[in-house]
Amino acid sequence: MGRKKPLVVVTRKLPDVVETRMCELFDARLNIDDKPMSRSELAEAMRLAEVLVPTVTDRIDAELIATAGEQMKLIANFGNGVDNIDVSAALGRGVTVTNTPGVLTEDTADMTMALVLAVARRVVEGAKAIPAGEWTGWTPTWMLGRRITGKRLGIVGMGRIGQAVARRAKAFGLQIHYHNRRHVASAIEEALDATYWESLDQMLARMDIVSVNCPHTPATYHLLSARRLKYLRPHAILINTARGEIIDENALTRMLELGELAGAGLDVFEHEPAVSPKLIKLANAGKVTLLPHMGSATTEGRVDMGEKVIINVKTFMDGHRPPDRVLPTML
Ligand code: 8YV
Repeated sequence: MGRKKPLVVVTRKLPDVVETRMCELFDARLNIDDKPMSRSELAEAMRLAEVLVPTVTDRIDAELIATAGEQMKLIANFGNGVDNIDVSAALGRGVTVTNTPGVLTEDTADMTMALVLAVARRVVEGAKAIPAGEWTGWTPTWMLGRRITGKRLGIVGMGRIGQAVARRAKAFGLQIHYHNRRHVASAIEEALDATYWESLDQMLARMDIVSVNCPHTPATYHLLSARRLKYLRPHAILINTARGEIIDENALTRMLELGELAGAGLDVFEHEPAVSPKLIKLANAGKVTLLPHMGSATTEGRVDMGEKVIINVKTFMDGHRPPDRVLPTML
């Protein structure tokens, strides 16, 4: 008789192909209706399951982790960012945490460029004009945006996604600048013709477009604070496909309202899924482009993320180190 399959609780509906494979390998409790689990449902899962597969929409904090049963050994996040999980609390309790790095890099970078273009070239406003019956014909001075070629892009966080954004942006003729905890390898810097800024303040003050691509950790919470945002020049555009908490959203909103910033493209929000009515008003006025956390939303990406989760869970359950362990040094 084979070993009993581990009980794996999956908090949200995942692609069918991922769920089917999970059912073959594990005693998988799925959430076919995709109704987000309540705190007490999450606590119940932590009490009973060996593995929890949460997403960005589940807050797995220290309090919840403290209620986990002895059998709970792995939190296999369906997502790259792990700011939804108190990783230190989990590790402290002997619970391993894994994520899904690498497979959503290109999709997120594509969406970053989509936002750069959307904001600079007023794509969303333009796309609304014809259905709204506002277009009477070509005009030399109507719906003018800003050229991106030849401008300077400052990337905050030059990890996998930051570099993928840089590759794309270089092909669009943008000059690449970046701020990171440390220099990237010189071969990468050279290939991207990228300029490193140790001082984020200094970089912000010089860019035409700024893209946030770092993870959200305690160190990057409000990295773009009210003080720092003031360094941006009035014609600058700010793009965020990372996490809302990295930017002081109130301060950003105020600057956009006052015309102290030309525009913003946001895929993530500080109090997700809530989006402030002020930002919505700015979107209706064509000052910002807002997307509902779609950076990694491709069919291929979500299947790849699911496969990463499966590999992590299976490897762990087979008694080996899962490939995508989140280590304290990564926080
Ligand atoms: C995911 C993301 O969709 O992986 C991440 O960090 O931000 C998103 O692309 C989400 O986190 C899934 O949990």
